Amino acid sequence: MAHLLITGGAGFIGSHCCVALLEAGHGLVVLDNFDNSSPEALRRVAELGGLQGEARGPWRDGHGAVRLQLVEGDVRCADDLDAAFTTSPEGIGAVVHCAGLKAVGESVAEPLRYWDTNLGGSLRLLEAMRRHGCRTIVFSSSATLYGYPDTVPIPETAPIQPINPYGHSKAAVEQVLADVAASEAGWRIARLRYFNPVGSHPSGRIGEDPEGIPNNLFPYLSQVAVGRRQALHIFGSDWPTPDGTGVRDYIHVMDLADGHRAALDTLLREEPQLLTVNLGSGQGHSVLDVVHAFEAACGHRLPYELVDRRPGDAATTVADPGLASARLDWRTRRSLADICRDGWAWQSANPRGYGP
Ligand code: NAD
Ligand code: UFG
Repeated sequence: MAHLLITGGAGFIGSHCCVALLEAGHGLVVLDNFDNSSPEALRRVAELGGLQGEARGPWRDGHGAVRLQLVEGDVRCADDLDAAFTTSPEGIGAVVHCAGLKAVGESVAEPLRYWDTNLGGSLRLLEAMRRHGCRTIVFSSSATLYGYPDTVPIPETAPIQPINPYGHSKAAVEQVLADVAASEAGWRIARLRYFNPVGSHPSGRIGEDPEGIPNNLFPYLSQVAVGRRQALHIFGSDWPTPDGTGVRDYIHVMDLADGHRAALDTLLREEPQLLTVNLGSGQGHSVLDVVHAFEAACGHRLPYELVDRRPGDAATTVADPGLASARLDWRTRRSLADICRDGWAWQSANPRGYGP
């Protein structure tokens, strides 16, 4: 058991990681400014972990031990980081760094905001780690680094060639982490390159709750299924793929969360190192595959229209998951049908997300 700091722990991926890491027995401190999330997500994480507490914590287990704490603050702020590192008497043994901004289109319109939060926030966090003697970090990186991939399935050795400011900011943080690892002995760093995380915890209590019109396929389709949107627009039906629609490697968010647990276990068990691994299933599914799987889960037809390609999209991105299997002893266990069943459990029980 370790005491962990989860930045962005109230977000989509962070909240699911919290559930998996609580289950693994860790004590958690979450630092989040709720820029793109709700405190209600953490309250439900506590509930799923069988913990008791006030609306904003701290949350205790049946023996009275504090297992989950919230520090409401900004990862770019040294004082907020110091509060997060000192709130637990045991200190912080490792960090899972999920806080960040992630909308590709928004990053094109507001590059400075993206660089400030994604790179600036990571720099401030690494400085705080040095101040507090913590040298272990798992970083939320992204398959977006590979841009238009030259080879599919994509190995970790593929060229880093991001095509938008969001991707550039992730590539920059990866470089900073490599430089930090090379500068001083003792760092244990995992750079986890997520493919397409979707779905929700099987309870349907926590899930993805995007603000405004969703940019991504799965939340958009979920909102069509629940009647919040009329029809899915499928971006391109003339891609060089089996059915002409784009192919992606969709990974159940609880498999992704297990990947974080596995990465932490590996880092804490082995010698200090810099680990870089894809988190994906190795299987590609087209947009139409996802539509049909979701129809099976929700029990009704989902209207869609075939429209033009979206600028910036690649035809196919699928992970080579071999290294994650070899180094982390981790692979995905949940299918596309599981993803849609659990995604529907969340969306149907929470048609307006965490909102009123
Ligand atoms: P999310 O927006 O749901 O979660 C991010 C969390 O970080 C939110 O709770 C937000 O409030 C918080 N946050 C943002 N700025 C902050 C700041 N300055 N200080 C403190 N907290 C802040 O996004 P997510 O989907 O959970 O993504 C988590 C991480 O994974 C991000 O770094 C993202 O870039 C990366 N990632 C996501 C995907 C994906 O498809 N969801 C894919 C690849 C990588
Ligand atoms: N798509 C549609 N209609 C929509 C939304 C998406 O047809 O309304 C299609 C896209 O064209 C693509 C597929 O569905 O073929 C998946 O698109 P998403 O937007 O869901 O996901 P992307 O693969 O484009 O990108 C996402 C994140 C990136 C991240 C990448 C890999 O947005 O930031 O996954 O993790 F880098």
